[in-house]
Amino acid sequence: MDQTVLDKIVDLFNQHGGSQYGGEAVTQREHALQCAMLARQAGLDAPTVVAALLHDVGHLLHHLPDDAPELGIDDHHEDLGAVWLEKHFIPEAVEPVRLHVAAKRYLCAVESDYFARLSPPSVISLELQGGPMSGKEVEEFEALQHFRRAVLVRRFDEEAKVTALATPAIEDFVPELTACLRGEAP
Ligand SMILES: [Fe+2]
Repeated sequence: MDQTVLDKIVDLFNQHGGSQYGGEAVTQREHALQCAMLARQAGLDAPTVVAALLHDVGHLLHHLPDDAPELGIDDHHEDLGAVWLEKHFIPEAVEPVRLHVAAKRYLCAVESDYFARLSPPSVISLELQGGPMSGKEVEEFEALQHFRRAVLVRRFDEEAKVTALATPAIEDFVPELTACLRGEAP
C-alpha cells in the first residue's frame, strides 16, 4: 500500500486545511469532510467518496490567496489537483476532481434553477471559469466517461458549506482512500 501518499494527504489537510474555502463560511478541511460525508451518506462508492474528499486538493497545493477569484484569478485548482492525484489514484476517483468545475458549468446550463443554488463566491468563479456551457460543450461533457460521477460530486460541493457541522476526521476516510489507490480494486 502506498502509505506515503495517504500520509501526505493527511499532512496537506493538517498544514493548509484551516485556510478559508474561498469566501465561504467554512475552512478547506470542513468543506472537504462535509463533501465526503455527504457522498458516504448517499451510499456512493469509494471513488465518489474519495473524489468528494479531494476535489479541492488543488487549493491546498497552490500558494495563491484564498480570495483569488475575487481578485480575478482562476487558480485552475481542478487541473492542479487531478495531475497530483492521478499519480496515486484510479481514474474513477481522479476524473471527477478534474471535471468538478466543468460540472458546475454543465449544471448551470442544463438545470434552470441550478445557478440560484450557487453561493456568491461560486458565482464569481463561474464567470472566470467560462460561465454556463454552450450546447456543444454540454454534448462533449456528457460524452466523457466520468461525467456522472463529476456531477454527483458537484452537487455535494454546493451543499458542503455549513458552519460548524460535525463530520468524520480525514483519517476516517483511509478505507476509501486505500481502496482507490492505483493497483488496488476500486
Ligand atoms: Fe469545493
